[in-house]
Amino acid sequence: MLLKTITLIACLLFCLNSSVLAQQSCTTPLNANGECIVVTKCSSLLALLQKSRRTQQETQFLRNSQCGSEGRNPKVCCEIQAQPTGQGRPSTCTTAEGSAGTCKDIYQCPALLTLFNAPKPLSPNVVTRLRQSSCQGPARISVCCGNPTSRNPANVDALLPKDSECGRSGDQDRIFGGNETAIDQYPWMALVEYRTRRNTLSLSCAASLISKRYLVTAGHCATGDIVSQVGTPESVRLGEWDKTTGQDCVKVSGGDNDCNDEPVSIRIEEVIPHPQYLPTTATGQKNDIALLRLASDAPVTDFIKPICLPKRDITVGLSSRAINLIVAGWGTTETNRPSNRKLHLAVPFVTLAECQSHYQTERLKAELWNKQICAGGEVGKDSCRGDSGGPLVYFNENKFDLIGVVSFGPSPCGLANVAGVYSNVYGYLDWIRGEIKP
Ligand code: ARG
Repeated sequence: MLLKTITLIACLLFCLNSSVLAQQSCTTPLNANGECIVVTKCSSLLALLQKSRRTQQETQFLRNSQCGSEGRNPKVCCEIQAQPTGQGRPSTCTTAEGSAGTCKDIYQCPALLTLFNAPKPLSPNVVTRLRQSSCQGPARISVCCGNPTSRNPANVDALLPKDSECGRSGDQDRIFGGNETAIDQYPWMALVEYRTRRNTLSLSCAASLISKRYLVTAGHCATGDIVSQVGTPESVRLGEWDKTTGQDCVKVSGGDNDCNDEPVSIRIEEVIPHPQYLPTTATGQKNDIALLRLASDAPVTDFIKPICLPKRDITVGLSSRAINLIVAGWGTTETNRPSNRKLHLAVPFVTLAECQSHYQTERLKAELWNKQICAGGEVGKDSCRGDSGGPLVYFNENKFDLIGVVSFGPSPCGLANVAGVYSNVYGYLDWIRGEIKP
């Protein structure tokens, strides 16, 4: 039964390709010596094939490994040393990030395999990282692979807000187009406070509260240039509306004053960039996402509330401009200065295919993938510098879901036919759930 299933899955992957002439020795997609054998006999690739959720790269790796077929069974180029030998058991080690890991064949470490598999030549960052990960192990290329966080998803659910406790925003009586929000609108929004070398606080990025202890922001707001050029992320400011004043008050209909509470600053205990986010100056940054863990619980008030994580990928089957998403932040406006007040804007969804066509020119080159989502492309309506890390949200079933994280876009912002690019939160749910601790 299991074998049948495997053959079936394998067929879905390989049978579309016409079969190639079988041959004994071969070169793997990673340029190693291999043997062309039936996939069921190649433990490393079989493990990849049996994974329930493969990344695009892993699927591509499997496809590139095909070297023929035997009846209905695809044959793959299996690295010779990757075969189980009986001896050379995996041993424990410390990963490049300093966590507990197992020294094993790189083929059995999807996270590092993805890096290894990146288009050649590998960037110096990737090379360094792979070098730091190498270990004396069972295979020709052995790496110290982080142990999967063995956490019961049920426990994680207890750490995230219930559906009835997230994504509730204040009244939405305003028109979009880069307008001020109400003071209680999007209460999950936070400003990241960076400690500069001159010992001041700089507000250069936004983030979204997803639980009492965690916020989601951009990878480039957590690590890389921002740290050398701005400072270290020290705290997050929650419940803010107008950055320049403590308590904010606005006139509401009837002439009354409506005020919020003083914003609160909470220290960041841990900055967790996505392990595959590689800080480079190049645009098109993949995995531009990070978690911020707070040193103490965020309060829940009318002005501070978590947003919901998405339950499904809302972009599946959507055509461009089929829905509007909302982006909000304190970033640069058409006046070329950051906004003091929280602003919001509706931006139309744009398919990845259409969006990729926006990023083909010399000046704006980026290779997009399905863990990114595009929105915007209308003149004068865009997120901009300083909005990074902030939320792209969708109102669904009476609550707001965090769909995207502001990553990059055209410069200057708001060009016609160049959508902004956001990290697709749905693609990072497993990572987020794996990182969240009590
Ligand atoms: N990376 C920018 C930041 O640091 C955000 C860019 C968004 N740009 C855009 N045109 N949509 O804030």
